[in-house]
Amino acid sequence: MADIDISLYNTVTEGKATILFPKSNEVFYNPVQEFNRDMSIAAIRTWSEIFMQEKRARIEKKLANAKTEQDRIKLAEKLDVQINPHNFTILEALAATGLRSIRYAKEIPNLKQVVANDLLDDAVESIRRNTIYNNLSEDLVRANKGDAMRVMYDTVGTQNKYDVVDLDPYGSAAPFVDGAVQAVSEGGLLCVTCTDLAILTGSMHPETCFGKYNGMPLKGTFPHEMALRLVLQMLQTSAGRYRRYIVPMMSCSIDFYLRVFVRVYTSPNEVKKAASKIGIIYECSGCHAFATQPLGKYDVKDNGSERHTPGSGPPVNEFCDHCGSVHHVGGPAWIAGLHDKTFVGKMLQHVKDNEQNYGTHVRMKGMMSVIQEEVDEPCYWTLQRLCGTLHCNSIPLLDLYSAILNAGYKASASHCGPQTLKTNAPSSVVWDVLRAFVKKHPVVMANIAENSPARKILAKEPSINVDFTRHPDAVAESRNGVRYQLNPTANWGPKARAGKKRKTDEKDTEE
Ligand SMILES: C[S@@+](CC[C@H](N)C(=O)[O-])C[C@H]1O[C@@H](n2cnc3c(N)ncnc32)[C@H](O)[C@@H]1O
Ligand SMILES: [Zn+2]
Repeated sequence: MADIDISLYNTVTEGKATILFPKSNEVFYNPVQEFNRDMSIAAIRTWSEIFMQEKRARIEKKLANAKTEQDRIKLAEKLDVQINPHNFTILEALAATGLRSIRYAKEIPNLKQVVANDLLDDAVESIRRNTIYNNLSEDLVRANKGDAMRVMYDTVGTQNKYDVVDLDPYGSAAPFVDGAVQAVSEGGLLCVTCTDLAILTGSMHPETCFGKYNGMPLKGTFPHEMALRLVLQMLQTSAGRYRRYIVPMMSCSIDFYLRVFVRVYTSPNEVKKAASKIGIIYECSGCHAFATQPLGKYDVKDNGSERHTPGSGPPVNEFCDHCGSVHHVGGPAWIAGLHDKTFVGKMLQHVKDNEQNYGTHVRMKGMMSVIQEEVDEPCYWTLQRLCGTLHCNSIPLLDLYSAILNAGYKASASHCGPQTLKTNAPSSVVWDVLRAFVKKHPVVMANIAENSPARKILAKEPSINVDFTRHPDAVAESRNGVRYQLNPTANWGPKARAGKKRKTDEKDTEE
């Protein structure tokens, strides 16, 4: 460290890492992303325990069935390697200062090596400097200068894949995905950030989103969940080209960006199921009811073989059954589960047991608790839209949840936003609940336009008996924690590329 002139740098400590920043501030750092890094460390730790356990179990099984003494010795040696810590690798393909990689090296046990890659000389120099400053070996944190794509494509056709590939670019991860799905090892973890939410939520030009992600966004009611589903669809579609498939562990909509954690496996047979996990999503332009159309379906025959057929539909009529409006068409998007609840449960427990390691543990626990409670069905309603459509008073969330639960369906919030309803109830039931609420809290019909969705919906009587009695499951356990974050700082948002000067103190936007 003698040769680092500390007076030239500012320091920032995050987790167990202290990072030197040139006072000239040439290298990218966004403090608001501490939550992203904390979540990633907890996710990789959780995955690594599962990954190592699975590897061990596979070898132990083979060992038990070994036919010859020679086989047994070979497998026992392999098992030794597995039991030996320091046996998995991470590629941080776009590493900037190296803060994330250095935190990974210090905070994730059993790591053999993290390759911290960046395109820029300044960044690579910063990674090296910070590795030394943090007393880490340059073998544990290997700084690499290269184009992320080239680094990932170099693994193709080799055994030298990375067990974890982390993509944390400026804006969209789309250009890096084809390389990433090939660079990650069997059962490995792919972690992807996208900060180009203006594109992914379709708030500006939906056609731009299609160009980048091969899916149309829906900006009406559930833009952030739709964005997650577009990214997962892109990951699966890219993986499928190489006979690989993804299994989402956790998919998070956070502040101004998305972060998804998926495991990647190889199996042509599983790839066939992708058509059933991907579909079109219809959202009514008037009342925002939604419906999904899987592109394919499969069933398992009595003899265990699987039969794949095209999806059948469409699931909606030309005009919305509830309000008579046309539908917007979104996708193709991932319509299967966003999270593996067992994984989320393990990760949540890990954070509860290690709060001192995570600066953002309060928020981590809050978000993971909401995710764990999420009803695993595509999309959600918002209170604002439901009541806005009918021009009625705001229905108390617990009344809404209770009525849905009392009708025999599931109800939860979405981690994508407060005042949301995820449910497996058909939209007709949701509108019946609102109709019953309006009976108790009438709306002034004189103020409502002749052709409005409100008139069409309220012209019908509820077809079910709606019961607003408070249901015991209506109050989520996560309510005791901090569930949704307000904007954390004045300069909250994606940061501009390193070296760019801020014009104002307002939020930056990329892309
Ligand atoms: C958002 S920053 C990464 C932040 C970092 N992951 C963290 O958590 O602190 C994006 C970085 O990607 C680098 N970059 C952009 N395009 C690249 C490419 N094609 N290959 C490698 N690095 C690239 C930039 O130089 C920049 O340092
Ligand atoms: Zn409608």
